[in-house]
Amino acid sequence: SGDVVRRERFSGGPARGFLSSLAADERIFAADVAVDRAHVVMLDEQDVIDREDASAILGALDAVESAGHADLPDGEDVHAAIETAVIRRIGDRGGRMHTARSRNDEVATCIRYRLREDVLDAAEATVEARDVLADVAEDHTGTVMPGFTHLQPAQPTTVAHYLCSYESALARDTERLLDAYGRINRSPLGGAAFAGTPFDIDRERTAELLGFDDLVRNSMDAASARDFLVETTAAVAALATTLSGLAEDLVVFSNLGYVELDDAYASTSSIMPQKKNPDTMEIVRGTAGEAAAGLNALLSILKGLPRAYNRDLQRAHPHAFEAVDAVAEATEVAAGAVATAAWDESTLEAAASEGFSTATGVADLLAMEGLPFRTAHELVALAAERMGGGADVDAAYAALDAAAKDVLDAPLDARVDRDTVEVALDPVQSVASRDSVGGPAPATVERELTR
Ligand code: ARG
Repeated sequence: SGDVVRRERFSGGPARGFLSSLAADERIFAADVAVDRAHVVMLDEQDVIDREDASAILGALDAVESAGHADLPDGEDVHAAIETAVIRRIGDRGGRMHTARSRNDEVATCIRYRLREDVLDAAEATVEARDVLADVAEDHTGTVMPGFTHLQPAQPTTVAHYLCSYESALARDTERLLDAYGRINRSPLGGAAFAGTPFDIDRERTAELLGFDDLVRNSMDAASARDFLVETTAAVAALATTLSGLAEDLVVFSNLGYVELDDAYASTSSIMPQKKNPDTMEIVRGTAGEAAAGLNALLSILKGLPRAYNRDLQRAHPHAFEAVDAVAEATEVAAGAVATAAWDESTLEAAASEGFSTATGVADLLAMEGLPFRTAHELVALAAERMGGGADVDAAYAALDAAAKDVLDAPLDARVDRDTVEVALDPVQSVASRDSVGGPAPATVERELTR
């Protein structure tokens, strides 16, 4: 039979280890048993094989499954090894299992079957991380902190608003994963090598038994398609990129004393006893590089592959599995770090007043009082330039008043009274005033959290 020829062809030689994917295929061992079962049940229902042979094969598959991947005979891959193990248990009739299929549709089905589970795990990790972000945000809608652009203090915001910005981003990561899931969840089984089969198979039935929503209908496409790996890995790499920003912020914020990571999420130095380093966040940040590299590896392997099956494909899916594993774990770790971190409210509030970070609020105020925004911007910029870095309210008012005299030929209180300016200069009130949709005002963030 063809199987015997195939096994003989794979009898040895220096490239044996190079050719074999058996070790890496441990990942799809359980999937392959499931795919074998569904296929055999369908072959029996369609009278392609008889009931006794089907029963014997299913019994052998149970035993092979219990014995586990480690107990498989050596083979070119998990599909061949499981078939050999079945034949060893029940004799040649075990070879009927491979009727009306090929390893090409088989492996594609196994990858999709297993990846569905992994993508759901990753999506679940994003949902849990979003829960954590929202829970911590609920406690900090009034905790004012500096917001940055170009890593310079820019405008005050709150810890809640900051955390919710990552919840929003992760919500799209969840969407992307679930979107990829929809296209993973189609069955290529029954496409055979690429050219279909003369047997009267029922592809819808195996799809149903394996929980697939739909078919990859064209049999050549079924054996060849790996774009589901690309979009899954892209979704995972995008998720990792989101997390890397959060991780980077937490590294910076730790160093500024804004937040302290729990000891469980930090590490120390082997030589410098005083150090508490945010190592977990740095590894989360690094994971984004690995995921991006995995996506690049996949695209590079798939680019220009001719139809239909080519063995290059054996080196493709491990990149998707590695990326999804690393990023799901990074998601859990990032969520744990946020859940247990302590935000230093007084350091944050003091920092929010530094660098004249309420300058935009003062310019907004002058514009509300009728000044063109560009003129208001110029006036406040002049004051900021003269003030240098930090300044108390009196110094800020004096600088603004002097700038008003230069730019408007009038004291500041000709435009707006001093109390109102002081309100705008206060970071807490400045945040409270920015209540446009999605803005940082505590009441606005509370509304979004409820939504
Ligand atoms: N181990 C192979 C893979 O992962 C299975 C398919 C082998 N098919 C073939 N025609 N050589 O792609």
